[in-house]
Amino acid sequence: MIIKEKTTEDNSWIVEYMEREWGGNFIITNGRMHYIEQLAGIILSENQKNIGICLYEEGNNECEIVLLEAFEKNKGVGTILIKEMISRMKNMNWRRIWLITTNDNLDAIRFYQRRKFRINKINKNGIDKARKLKHTIPLVGNYGIPIHDEIEMEYSNIEEKTD
Ligand SMILES: CC(C)(COP(=O)(O)OP(=O)(O)OC[C@H]1O[C@@H](n2cnc3c(N)ncnc32)[C@H](O)[C@@H]1OP(=O)(O)O)[C@@H](O)C(=O)NCCC(=O)NCCS
Repeated sequence: MIIKEKTTEDNSWIVEYMEREWGGNFIITNGRMHYIEQLAGIILSENQKNIGICLYEEGNNECEIVLLEAFEKNKGVGTILIKEMISRMKNMNWRRIWLITTNDNLDAIRFYQRRKFRINKINKNGIDKARKLKHTIPLVGNYGIPIHDEIEMEYSNIEEKTD
């Protein structure tokens, strides 16, 4: 397995994937639109096949994971990608890595907590607001749960030190 940086050449297949699976070429977090082409990213591949991706945005000495996606679940892909992001923290001088997930995404909330991320904030009705800008966001998500809220999770150096 190898991890490579996303390049402009990757944009077309990622956008195609995002339009098919996530209803558009942008993702909204905290009311901000993130266009896939403008995000940095790392791609995990095996035998020349892309098996996972992490798209992120840096700023203010922190890193927002905008999308972490394993194309096949429960095979260790997400773990490899998140470990890589955490290992970059010191070199990149990030104070924290944070992300937004949705209230129905119990698998992701579990996954991140198992990897020392903490729930930092709940933005009640955050997804209802995002849906006004991105109509393809479904009303009902995983496990039949209505999707309304943004859950912010973070991994910080402080968590690392108190481990
Ligand atoms: C959240 C997400 C990225 C996790 O990625 P993943 O590749 O499925 O995660 P992993 O396989 O590394 O870990 C999941 C579980 O599978 C287990 N696992 C890993 N390899 C395994 C294997 N070969 N056999 C059995 N179990 C395995 C892991 O131990 C882990 O369990 P744990 O959390 O109890 O340790 C993935 O579910 C996903 O792509 N979701 C859709 C997109 C999304 O919602 N992203 C999050 C919001 S940004």
